[in-house]
Amino acid sequence: MRTSTHPQLRELLQESPYQAYVYSYPHKTSYRALIPPIALRELWLKENRQSIFLYIHIPFCEMRCGFCNLFTTAKTTEDFVNAYINAVGRQAQRVKAAIGETTFVRFALGGGTPTQLPIAGLEAILDIAEEKMGAKLSEIPGSVEVSPATVDRDKLHLLRDRGLDRVSIGVQSFIDSEVLAVQRSQRVYQVETALTLMREVGFPTINIDLIYGLPGQTVDSWLQSIRVALQFQPEEIYLYPLYVRPLTGMGKSSQEWDDIRLECYREGRSFLISQGYTQVSMRMFQITADRDSRSSPNQAGPIYCCQADGMVGLGCGARSYTSSLHYSYEYAVEDQQVRQILKDFINTPAQSFDYAHYGFQLDAQESRRRYILLSLLAQEGLNLVDYHCHFTTEAFLDFPELSELLQLGLADRDNQTLHLTEMGMERSDNIGSWLFSEQVRQLMQTYQMHSLS
Ligand SMILES: C[S@@+](CC[C@H](N)C(=O)[O-])C[C@H]1O[C@@H](n2cnc3c(N)ncnc32)[C@H](O)[C@@H]1O
Ligand code: SF4
Repeated sequence: MRTSTHPQLRELLQESPYQAYVYSYPHKTSYRALIPPIALRELWLKENRQSIFLYIHIPFCEMRCGFCNLFTTAKTTEDFVNAYINAVGRQAQRVKAAIGETTFVRFALGGGTPTQLPIAGLEAILDIAEEKMGAKLSEIPGSVEVSPATVDRDKLHLLRDRGLDRVSIGVQSFIDSEVLAVQRSQRVYQVETALTLMREVGFPTINIDLIYGLPGQTVDSWLQSIRVALQFQPEEIYLYPLYVRPLTGMGKSSQEWDDIRLECYREGRSFLISQGYTQVSMRMFQITADRDSRSSPNQAGPIYCCQADGMVGLGCGARSYTSSLHYSYEYAVEDQQVRQILKDFINTPAQSFDYAHYGFQLDAQESRRRYILLSLLAQEGLNLVDYHCHFTTEAFLDFPELSELLQLGLADRDNQTLHLTEMGMERSDNIGSWLFSEQVRQLMQTYQMHSLS
């Protein structure tokens, strides 16, 4: 049910298409302290633990890029990193004891930049996943995020030998001046060396992240970066619009900048489709299956459904999802706050890991919203029959406002599925935030006021 303060979709479409990246729901800025904390043992007892995602967060980077709002720091010492890995080990032991018998069907090592760890640190983290959590890394799909200057042959071999089959590299642009303009000290030769190594080591799936809307970037230079990326035949490409605040830092008016980003998106999308890629979401493109003979041996594993299944996150900055609660540690971007949160994590007494202290409780309506949002923003769309099987109610009765998407030409409906149209897909961020509940919207706004003060 919409209240009068809720923004109308028509009005949202008048605003910038790039306000915030909607990649999950509810957003982490809607999490708050859980008082009293919630015991993981009771929480997970109610869950189906047969298809769980295991995620480990490494909040360290070689540099702090000017645009990045992820939970990470570039200022660390070897001792601090080792203390962090030890804390993740202690956390894993307590979490595993609390959640009990669990089948992990997917694994990801993300950040930050996991390969910022020395090889012994990476090994220790993989041991935690396998020995403490019981994840069978060689039998399930597993992914790792890397930056160009932090990979070498030994680290890549280790990750591949331990069963990871996907490596995702942040490149952003193949033009040095464009990345330097966002305080990313990276050179094209490092990117090319890293990509060549990733292929030589034999990762079946390589993903390249690129960003459009960078200072000094033009539509031509953007397409040039995509062309160079394709020389390495990545199985996946993410095209991210650059998000930064304040916009004035870009030296352009916001309207001009929106226009450039929209044109980059459209040109980039058409080019990738012409080169045999399929669009999976506004940002993600995947080589079309029948053109790709290098399929991953791990892809036959059980399928994880991000709309419905659970996730266990380890490390500071990682989120965990159950059907009724999303939880994590506190989140920050500013470096001093990040390091304070990390210090607190490192000093956490073991028994405190038995509880969720910070998060968001999802009622039945929020769970439905989450399902709709995540399905609709992906190319597969919202399958109305699956929705009914899952919730025993009808999506259009639960959320009558979905019909506005049809009226505005942002979605199409066949018997079974509601899909975004081409116009809807490029407006994913607007549609995503329009679908946020009033409660989540208000929590996000008060978080922002608090963090900006
Ligand atoms: C964890 S990083 C990838 C690995 C590694 N840390 C790196 O940067 O090379 C995640 C990706 O999110 C994207 N990203 C982060 N903040 C962004 C922002 N404000 N606007 C657009 N893309 C962003 C970047 O493309 C980045 O590669
Ligand atoms: S974009 Fe990657 S390397 Fe840069 S600060 Fe963010 S996580 Fe670190």
